[in-house]
Amino acid sequence: MATPTRSQPATKVKDDRTLLKELLIDELRDIYWAEKYLTKTMPRLLKAATSPQLAHAFENHLMQSLDQITRLELAFEMMELHPRARKCEAMEGLVKECQQMLQDMPKGSSALDAGLIICVQKIEHYEIAAYGSLVQLAKTMGRKDVADILHLTLVEEKETDELLTELAVSGINLDAVHEEGQ
Ligand SMILES: [Fe+2]
Repeated sequence: MATPTRSQPATKVKDDRTLLKELLIDELRDIYWAEKYLTKTMPRLLKAATSPQLAHAFENHLMQSLDQITRLELAFEMMELHPRARKCEAMEGLVKECQQMLQDMPKGSSALDAGLIICVQKIEHYEIAAYGSLVQLAKTMGRKDVADILHLTLVEEKETDELLTELAVSGINLDAVHEEGQ
């Protein structure tokens, strides 16, 4: 524990630690809600994807998200907490954009695939930011055990993001350009 100084009294140090712990718990609850919400949406996106590779990527991500939910539950347990979700407004908004994309783009088109990649990459970037912050916060709190388990998910989210970029670059977006030219 830090030695109290005149500029940093003991009570202040304790307050900061408590606040940081609350922040960590709050952010865990936020991403827990986000992951669960996403698993309900993914099957729709999976069905809507035209490219088999994209459908496969979405299916993989759905399976990963289920594992990630289990990891979050483990992180709650490690902190001697009951897993609890807190509505994530950002994820709700990002999923709404996916639903809008499904309405706006014709079914079976590569343009829809390209649009879905954009939507899901936005989701991935949110998740990368969330898990990246959580890992850092857990380390700051001296919870390397919690940081380590969340880091596994962070790596998966980054890999999914890279895979989606590869799919976009390797053809799906190009197919959409060809469609336009027809
Ligand atoms: Fe995730």
